[in-house]
Amino acid sequence: MTEKDKRGGFYLTTPIYYVNDVPHIGHAYTTIACDVLARWHRLAGDESRFLTGTDEHGQKIQQAAEKRGMTPIQLCDEVVVNFKKLWVKLGISNNDFIRTTEERHIKVAQYFFKTLLEKDDIYKGSYEGWYCVPCETYVPDAQIGDEKLCPDCRRPLTRMSEESYFFRLSKYEDKLIEYYEKHPDAIMPKARYNEVMSFIKSGLQDLSISRTTLKWGIPVPGDDKHVIYVWLDALINYISAVGYPTPGEMWEKHWPNVRHMVGKDIIRFHSVIWPAILLAMGLNPPVRVFAHGWWTVEGEKMSKSKGNVVDPFEMVDLYGTDAFRYFVLREVPFGNDGDFSELGMVQRINSDLANDLGNLLNRTLQMIEKYRDARLPEAGSLSRANDLDLGLKKTAHDVVSKMDAEIDDFALEAALKTLWSLISAGNKYIDETEPWRLGRKDPNDRLDVVLRTLWEVLRIASILVFPFIPETARHIWQQLGLKGDVDSARLPGWRWGDSDAVIDVKKGDVLFPRIDIAKWKEEKSARDATKLAALTGSDCSSDAPIEESSFDETEIDDFKKLEIRVALIEQVETVDKANKLYKLHIDIGREKRVIVSSIREFFKPEELVGKKILVLCNLKPAKFRGIESNGMLLAAEADDGGKEIISLATVDPDFPVGSLVH
Ligand code: ME8
Ligand code: MG
Repeated sequence: MTEKDKRGGFYLTTPIYYVNDVPHIGHAYTTIACDVLARWHRLAGDESRFLTGTDEHGQKIQQAAEKRGMTPIQLCDEVVVNFKKLWVKLGISNNDFIRTTEERHIKVAQYFFKTLLEKDDIYKGSYEGWYCVPCETYVPDAQIGDEKLCPDCRRPLTRMSEESYFFRLSKYEDKLIEYYEKHPDAIMPKARYNEVMSFIKSGLQDLSISRTTLKWGIPVPGDDKHVIYVWLDALINYISAVGYPTPGEMWEKHWPNVRHMVGKDIIRFHSVIWPAILLAMGLNPPVRVFAHGWWTVEGEKMSKSKGNVVDPFEMVDLYGTDAFRYFVLREVPFGNDGDFSELGMVQRINSDLANDLGNLLNRTLQMIEKYRDARLPEAGSLSRANDLDLGLKKTAHDVVSKMDAEIDDFALEAALKTLWSLISAGNKYIDETEPWRLGRKDPNDRLDVVLRTLWEVLRIASILVFPFIPETARHIWQQLGLKGDVDSARLPGWRWGDSDAVIDVKKGDVLFPRIDIAKWKEEKSARDATKLAALTGSDCSSDAPIEESSFDETEIDDFKKLEIRVALIEQVETVDKANKLYKLHIDIGREKRVIVSSIREFFKPEELVGKKILVLCNLKPAKFRGIESNGMLLAAEADDGGKEIISLATVDPDFPVGSLVH
């Protein structure tokens, strides 16, 4: 296929995911991206190996298990099933699935430890510092503020002190810099490379790699008061899974070709600690660590308390595996952060999948059925191709090599755009050649060339699209009347018009039915309402009050978004035809405002004027009876024997107007 002759083994890994959480769009994203790369390399004729798995040791898992009244291994056994099921559902073609609680892994982790101890790259000392349990990491003092929160996840840190084994990370500073200077592609994208390089150059400290305060881990060989630090344990999965250090095992072939895909949250573990460990072991560092970006949802950070975690199982049930795979890969340049919106997905399904791809297949097959009784014009007709037909053939060839180069750089979104340029060219070709006119005028000659050309475009498109949306590619392949399976197609064997076989096309179901946006919006809001009801434990269609117990835990950051200030009520007006409303003129320090409030039945105007109250100032303006209200006052509400009573939130009378409430 391409000029490249460096084809060989390709070994790709996902992070191994923690089993204290259910899989969400983030995990799905990484794994889908890896699946595409692994499939592409198989297609390109490489020996491709693809590993994923679960990270099952450490404090986080131990605590999650305790919380649920289970042993850690019971929790692992239960949750690992969710991941395995999801990978089947998403069509993931991993060759292996490793769990760090497996014997094959444990013995290799211990072998690493023992070897590094013997080489004096590990030594015993003691460690004291601030530890973040959710991130399983000590946070350097320089990164800790007065609130003692983790700089990454903003949760409280724990002070820990323990006897510990250390890895001589500092010794590998220069070796790492040398390696990365020689291999600028070893960390991608470029911004991450620069970030890691400057981190290494700022100086590396030896790393604590054992814990005594924890039981749930792999015992340090010969000193089982200690367990191996979960991150060291976890990183080793990549090589334990291929049979290291047994001679003749897969690792000998695959390790020199290993590439790690990770999210940007864990780049340093993979491009500083892990390569240093490997160098210390006398092994090659990863050929590449690629850190992709972070998904938010409708502009917000995903969190359980917000109830906005995107469940890939649900997305697949609603839209299908391939639509979901396509969307996440196409929506953001690979490496950048992305924002998930279901509406965005629906629009992409309609435009790219239903319109562009689906239509090209439909129109082509319809015409072959109508004008040629479903029999594909023979390949020989292509010898009469004119410049227009040859132009499309050239586009197809160019697209193949361009995609190959893009995928070499893990530029998955770019590769999809490139492929869609061929699909658009195919649709444009139909508009230009107007085969329906040829059908009447010139039944035997020109029409054959056009139909065969279109069919060739679809054949190569089905091969190229296979790594991204395998199920769809199989449908296209079948409808084109091709024998066998697109799974076994190989790019190096592909030739434009190379088949002499007699082929009958078989038009089938529409690949992606168009989604009616208006109908979809209705369904979506019904779905959201059901979800909200489940989240708050109440039926939203009734006026049932939201009980205190239904409040979810919130992040402090959410609270910090609220601008609550001390305000002075200067003037109170009634509102025409609204016997519950007052129009309040208030002073919030930096400006004067009007708010509308339904407190008329509780207070006389003179009871309010001169009062200092608390007002939420950054609430979106809203109109009541034509009056714009810019804020909301805070009040407590209670039921006093069947009668509603309220009390305004206030401050001491001489407290300054405009003060912020924290
Ligand atoms: O860190 N957007 O496991 P983990 C994009 N066990 N990707 C996301 C994401 C988001 N919002 N959320 C998660 C661990 N990910 C360790 C790894 S490897 C030796 C040990 C993806 O379960 C992304 O790939 O917290 C991220 O790196 C990974 O999930 C973290 O998964
Ligand atoms: Mg994480």
